[in-house]
Amino acid sequence: MIDKLVRENIKNLKAYSSAREHNFGMEAIFLDANESPFETGLNRYPDPNQMALKRALADLRLCRPEQIILGNGSDELIDLLMRSFCEPGLDNVICANPSYGMYQVSADINQVELRRFNLDANFEFEDTAALELADEHSKLLLLCSPNNPTGKIIPLSAIQNLCNEFNGIVVLDEAYIDFAESPSALSLLGQNDNLFVMQTFSKSWGMAGIRLGVGYTNPEIVEILSAVKAPYNVNTLTQNIALKAIENKQQSDAWIKALVEQRKVLEKVLNEFNMVERVFPSEANFLLVRFTNAQDVFNTLIDSGIVVRNRSKEFNCKNCLRISVGTMEENVKLLEVLKNLES
Ligand SMILES: Cc1ncc(COP(=O)(O)O)c(C=O)c1O
Repeated sequence: MIDKLVRENIKNLKAYSSAREHNFGMEAIFLDANESPFETGLNRYPDPNQMALKRALADLRLCRPEQIILGNGSDELIDLLMRSFCEPGLDNVICANPSYGMYQVSADINQVELRRFNLDANFEFEDTAALELADEHSKLLLLCSPNNPTGKIIPLSAIQNLCNEFNGIVVLDEAYIDFAESPSALSLLGQNDNLFVMQTFSKSWGMAGIRLGVGYTNPEIVEILSAVKAPYNVNTLTQNIALKAIENKQQSDAWIKALVEQRKVLEKVLNEFNMVERVFPSEANFLLVRFTNAQDVFNTLIDSGIVVRNRSKEFNCKNCLRISVGTMEENVKLLEVLKNLES
């Protein structure tokens, strides 16, 4: 099935064969890649297949290394999926409205039509709303759970149904899943060849600066994307730091716990303000909050040195600010500024 979805030119692609593809052992004399022989710790190209990191991630997420593709952030994985499966000017992809902004940007860059189904006032949707937009040129269904900017989770039963009913690849962006009580859809991978679950080191791992996105999917899709990606797309520093973070997972677990607790406190206190009309329930590390006048609140926060995201122009997000959960001290400062504004 996957074979039928790939662009013709990609199907016929002969991937770049990189010098560091084969592991000859540490004793070898490497005169094959025009690198510098002088030891800097970084004078060699990184492992293009990132095997050590994939093994560690496979152990962590209970899958096989062949089911993993790594990218320079999830943003690279989104672009790789579009470039590999969507014929410019012909194919289309489908996503929710509102959802993560990069889906639109990546589709535009690749000259791929983006079709959007509207979420309702509670940011929910019927599976049929997504499926009704599909035709024979629909290659990707881009879902985000918990969704950005709403914080809403998509139940696994809906994901399973969409995998059954959609004739392309169901891409499930789980950038915020570690903050959710609901489980990841990784458990559905085995039964669904067309499922691509995307996670990132940018949020719960506290490593947005290293740029590491992780795709878990069927090995056939991994092979296709691996042929399209730049050979050394994940640099040595990133691979090493991510490995250390995985070894030290109790640190990110503690951060997750702290942020979820803080999210609950923020949600409760924000709900007590008169200028807050609604705090949308969130399973992510942010809250979408509807104010009586979002622009006034936004300006006051900026004047106090606090930057949040105004999402008011997004569909069904009138007067909504998206507020990331900070440290306890940062959140207290935020609430103080809001209290002063209200008094
Ligand atoms: C839903 C979602 N997916 C992906 C990303 C980007 O991830 P990365 O930093 O791995 O490119 C973001 C960043 O805000 C996001 O909100």
